[in-house]
Amino acid sequence: MAQVSGMSDVPDMGRRQFMNLLTFGTITGTALGALYPVVKYFIPPSSGGTGGGVVAKDALGNDIKVSDYLTKHLPGDRSLAQGIKGDPTYVIVTEDHQIANYGLNAVCTHLGCVVPWNVSENKFICPCHGSQYDSTGKVVRGPAPLSLALVRATVTEDDKLVFTPWTETDFRTGKEPWWT
Ligand code: FES
Repeated sequence: MAQVSGMSDVPDMGRRQFMNLLTFGTITGTALGALYPVVKYFIPPSSGGTGGGVVAKDALGNDIKVSDYLTKHLPGDRSLAQGIKGDPTYVIVTEDHQIANYGLNAVCTHLGCVVPWNVSENKFICPCHGSQYDSTGKVVRGPAPLSLALVRATVTEDDKLVFTPWTETDFRTGKEPWWT
């Protein structure tokens, strides 16, 4: 079980860049530390998870309210939220305008850059060395060796979005998850 050590943690460069990218600022680590016990409370027992989940947060550090979110994010939208362990995580809006039951960890499986969504190409394209992933995060061009990691995305009764670890088969490859 991870120890919640709060402000003494020094973020690595990838994390720091992400925080700068979304202007989360240094308060994020503190907020996450405070959030941890709350998050455990929100994980529905029916999810099968035993912990390790988080309530998804927007770029300002606020809990995402799903009903509001869907008024601003149209079908096909892929936008970043703050996910498990603070990782940048894409929320996927389905064609029937719901939150998909999976999210994508945006960290490139090559060397860890945050991979932007390219609407016109309908792919995630890494700016660092050109790796490409399809709209489900499946790798379609290297050097990235693996697809983007999945997380389970669940909408709670109180209109929040909870990310929990994806432990089932990877539906894109039919294989066991490489990230667990
Ligand atoms: Fe993404 Fe190298 S880090 S292609």
